[in-house]
Amino acid sequence: MSAATLLELSGLSAGYGGPDVVHDIDLSVSEGEIVTLLGANGAGKTTVLRAISGAVRSTGTVSWAGSPLRGRPDERARSGLGHVPQGRGTLTQLTVAENLWVGGARLGPRRRREAVDSWFETFPRLRERAEQTAGNLSGGEQQMLALARALISEPRLVLLDEPSLGLAPLITQEVFERLREINARLGTALLVVEQNAAASLALADRAYVLGSGHIIRHGAADELIDDDELRRAYLGA
Ligand SMILES: Nc1ncnc2c1ncn2[C@@H]1O[C@H](COP(=O)(O)OP(=O)(O)O)[C@@H](O)[C@H]1O
Ligand SMILES: [Mg+2]
Repeated sequence: MSAATLLELSGLSAGYGGPDVVHDIDLSVSEGEIVTLLGANGAGKTTVLRAISGAVRSTGTVSWAGSPLRGRPDERARSGLGHVPQGRGTLTQLTVAENLWVGGARLGPRRRREAVDSWFETFPRLRERAEQTAGNLSGGEQQMLALARALISEPRLVLLDEPSLGLAPLITQEVFERLREINARLGTALLVVEQNAAASLALADRAYVLGSGHIIRHGAADELIDDDELRRAYLGA
């Protein structure tokens, strides 16, 4: 039996006040599923994530566990939607420990302390750097912190905007392995936006390809990974 649909976009169009930059997007993510949204720079990937989290204006429908998802980004976050924006989403002036503490604001005080501890267990490097400011971490460490910060409030789905951006290939591999582990252990659904098609198709169950603001392909990740035409035309690989 397949898992229930958690997030569903239907005929979603969005933009920044001028003409829409993404058009008529149909996309879904089931409970516990890993879905990737691929496309070249400027295709509209970030805009789709911002429309889901309520940071840009959109038309069409976004439904969440069967009900319309509406309201401001903080209200959507309270329903269990996490978002790691492009460029990481850490509070660079605060320490690593403070970032996690702030991320856990929705938990009760005791649970919050336990959650910070358990994320330090998951990412021992972050514990070693607990008192350093986030802005002084390496790119890979910042990405791990951004992940932990989003996950600490136990979201049902996390939107990840280019988690591999600016990371060396080996570090990218580590980040993606951590994503797979977290998904398997906690059942958190992931919607991963990437230009790095190879890494994210290897991680994902299903994939959508965005070209100039439209969904031009979708299917099982292992089918798209073998599609030479797609690779040449849209993924630059
Ligand atoms: N804040 C903004 N204001 C106006 N246009 C924007 C803004 N952000 C992005 N755009 C435009 O929207 C289109 C899609 O951008 P984006 O969603 O960032 O693409 P991607 O994430 O795939 O690189 C681009 O043409 C971009 O110039
Ligand atoms: Mg982007």
